[in-house]
Amino acid sequence: MNTPSFTFVLYTLFLTLSVFVSSSSSSLPMSLKTQASILVSLKQDFESKTSLKSWNISNYMSLCTTWYDIQCDTNNSSVLSLDISNLNVSGTFSSSITKLSNLRFLNISNNMFNGNLSWKFSHLKELEVLDAYNNEFNCSLPLGVTELPKLKYLNFGGNFFYGEIPSKYGNMLQLNYLSLAGNDLRGFIPFELGNLTNLTHLLLGYYNEFDGEIPPHFGNLVNLLHLDLANCGLKGSIPHELRKLYKLDTLFLQTNQLNGSIPPQLGNLSSLKSLDMSNNELNGNIPNEFSNLRELTLLNLFINKLWFYSSKLGQNGKLSELDLSTNKLTGLVPKSLCLGKRLKILILLNNFLFGSLPNEFGQCYTLQRVRLGQNYLTGSIPKGYVIMSC
Ligand SMILES: *[C@@H]1O[C@H](CO)[C@@H](O)[C@H](O)[C@H]1NC(C)=O
Ligand SMILES: *[C@@H]1O[C@H](CO)[C@@H](O)[C@H](O)[C@H]1NC(C)=O
Ligand SMILES: *[C@@H]1O[C@H](CO)[C@@H](O)[C@H](O)[C@H]1NC(C)=O
Ligand SMILES: *[C@@H]1O[C@H](CO)[C@@H](O)[C@H](O)[C@H]1NC(C)=O
Ligand SMILES: *[C@@H]1O[C@H](CO)[C@@H](O)[C@H](O)[C@H]1NC(C)=O
Ligand SMILES: *[C@@H]1O[C@H](CO)[C@@H](O)[C@H](O)[C@H]1NC(C)=O
Ligand SMILES: *[C@@H]1O[C@H](CO)[C@@H](O)[C@H](O)[C@H]1NC(C)=O
Ligand SMILES: *[C@@H]1O[C@H](CO)[C@@H](O)[C@H](O)[C@H]1NC(C)=O
Ligand SMILES: *[C@@H]1O[C@H](CO)[C@@H](O)[C@H](O)[C@H]1NC(C)=O
Ligand SMILES: *[C@@H]1O[C@H](CO)[C@@H](O)[C@H](O)[C@H]1NC(C)=O
Ligand SMILES: *[C@@H]1O[C@H](CO)[C@@H](O)[C@H](O)[C@H]1NC(C)=O
Repeated sequence: MNTPSFTFVLYTLFLTLSVFVSSSSSSLPMSLKTQASILVSLKQDFESKTSLKSWNISNYMSLCTTWYDIQCDTNNSSVLSLDISNLNVSGTFSSSITKLSNLRFLNISNNMFNGNLSWKFSHLKELEVLDAYNNEFNCSLPLGVTELPKLKYLNFGGNFFYGEIPSKYGNMLQLNYLSLAGNDLRGFIPFELGNLTNLTHLLLGYYNEFDGEIPPHFGNLVNLLHLDLANCGLKGSIPHELRKLYKLDTLFLQTNQLNGSIPPQLGNLSSLKSLDMSNNELNGNIPNEFSNLRELTLLNLFINKLWFYSSKLGQNGKLSELDLSTNKLTGLVPKSLCLGKRLKILILLNNFLFGSLPNEFGQCYTLQRVRLGQNYLTGSIPKGYVIMSC
């Protein structure tokens, strides 16, 4: 969810567009008074205690200059952006918003809007950003958004959307960002989402409870930086096709029922910084290839059935947090874990590790939290190794 830099880039892009494009608008100009009255009618449908006092029809002349979080084109003649996020307003959000046909940016996130979003989306030909994150929309996912030819950012996360993800969502080829995370979605994830090859962010996890497996077609999403499919009921094995997502920096697959072994090809995801596959049913090895992940800082594989790891793990150099607890790992604790001198958290609790701790750990001054209990470790604590708990 946390993608401030991306949002910033998008917003900058948006502002740039607002300044230079806009005479090209196809619809007839709508008077300021008409636009103002649309906003005032919207306001009547939801209760806002304070923040929207400026939305007063008798001030329609200053719509573009003093009304709360409105932005217009350079001529102050047409509303392009509306941001009423974080106002804690409730009620329905009327479909008359679609009459503001020049709108490019709409952020209504972090409110308590409810209802069914059955808008005539197709009127919003210019809309690039629709952020409805964290509201109380309670309906199936609207198909109308697939008729927004310029939509690049769509966030429906954190609502009560139910039913299946429409396969038509795979038609929004221009999308960069799609979040449907944290809803009540069910059914199979449509493989057609694998056509959204311009996506940099795809978030579908949490509270959703899908059937079936991760679509192997997701291997086509080669521009992805962030893929979050955590905690949404996924089964089966992790498709090796994900190896093609070579730009990925975050891969979250934790808390599902994924089984089989970890595809060693994931060792090719050379931009990966955070990898979490904890709380699944994965067995086999932690691939040797993971020691190639030069950017990796976080590796969580706890609560699986893994039994072997490469003695090279940690050689990657940037590893800072490693939690492999509650697996079936056997062997010695690898000497290399702190080779990059960045290791802060090391949790190997509840495995079948034996032998003594490597002397190298005595110089691992970055360590802040260590848990090694419920293993078969022997011998003394290495010299200099001060922080030690079980
Ligand atoms: C602003 O208004 C002027 C004069 O009416 C017009 O020539 C110009 O195209 C307008 N620009 C925009 C961005 O609408
Ligand atoms: C709108 O503004 C007018 C004049 O400033 C004021 O008299 C009126 O009470 C305002 N209406 C609302 C609903 O705040
Ligand atoms: C639009 O409004 C802004 C903010 O009040 C003002 O600085 C700018 O001069 C106005 N532009 C035009 C073309 O009226
Ligand atoms: C919408 O507003 C929220 C809260 O103000 C902000 O965190 C988020 O980045 C905004 N969305 C976009 C796409 O700019
Ligand atoms: C939001 O509104 C609800 C009731 O409408 C109120 O109980 C709650 O305290 C408000 N939260 C904030 C952060 O203002
Ligand atoms: C959506 O809500 C509106 C207003 O509450 C209602 O008139 C309409 O019938 C609803 N549509 C659907 C498909 O439920
Ligand atoms: C969603 O709406 C249905 C009725 O349309 C209602 O039964 C259900 O409780 C609502 N769910 C939430 C989470 O508001
Ligand atoms: C995908 O992104 C590329 C590069 O930004 C752009 O040229 C292309 O038009 C985009 N595709 C769609 C369908 O928007
Ligand atoms: C979407 O992908 C499927 C197979 O993955 C393909 O058959 C279909 O033609 C694609 N559609 C578009 C519009 O690219
Ligand atoms: C993974 O689980 C599925 C059922 O969800 C089962 O059919 C399959 O055989 C399992 N595969 C492995 C490798 O355990
Ligand atoms: C990893 O990538 C290299 C080149 O980038 C390629 O030659 C190799 O086949 C890939 N390995 C796997 C397992 O995908």
